[in-house]
Amino acid sequence: MSHPSESRTSQIAKRVASLQRPFSSVTAYDYPMGRLADEAGIDVILVGDSVGMMVGGMQDTTGVTLDHMLYHTEIVGRAVKNAILIADLPINTYRTPDESVRNGKKLIECGAHAVKIEGGLRQVEKVRAMVENDIPMVGHLGMLPQRVREEGGYKKKGKTDEECRLLLEAAGALADAGVAMIVLESITTDIATRITENISVPTIGIGSGPNCSGQIRVLHDVIGAYPWFVPPFAKVYINVAGQVSEALQQFRKELK
Ligand code: KIV
Repeated sequence: MSHPSESRTSQIAKRVASLQRPFSSVTAYDYPMGRLADEAGIDVILVGDSVGMMVGGMQDTTGVTLDHMLYHTEIVGRAVKNAILIADLPINTYRTPDESVRNGKKLIECGAHAVKIEGGLRQVEKVRAMVENDIPMVGHLGMLPQRVREEGGYKKKGKTDEECRLLLEAAGALADAGVAMIVLESITTDIATRITENISVPTIGIGSGPNCSGQIRVLHDVIGAYPWFVPPFAKVYINVAGQVSEALQQFRKELK
């Protein structure tokens, strides 16, 4: 039970701290999938800007807008009763601390419990401003999908000493600035383990080895609903795309 006057950030920090490890997390972009994930007992649900690819057929996340994220957060928010619900601020919506606070508040008003932004040391001031405004925050380090065009592709991080040093420094700085958790995407197992062991908040790994505090996956990868691209680290548990295709062909045949 939370005290009525307790800040949102402290309530979320307590909920995160109480999660049994390794905790589970998936993305969701609509009501039925949000509800199924919540009812399956998934601990943390992310309305990720991967919605641009998984739902919108975009090439990457750089075309996702704040309006897209507000809509998808609102409809997933209607479904989620037990999980912690995070929503992404998309590219170019958190360029300054003021802009981050203004847009982060909109996601919270749409039902998000916490807001995720990508990046390390250059985001620390914005995280601090958002936490001061009682917006619970989640960090995102390693491979940053919003920078895929600048970086010329999706590349594993933590392969050089300099990258490792920067990742460790950024993780510590984000934790000190008040994030509730940090997503570690496509980081070598060794450095993801070191970050997880050395910072004060949980990590959520994707393509970063088995030792993070929790694991997050893109829902469409888990259920085989986006067969046109499956990342190499993804384990596909069922073939939803195949079953949908079969059901539709059967429907057509029966009509004839
Ligand atoms: O948008 C997204 O799906 C994400 C996950 C890959 C962590 O940020």
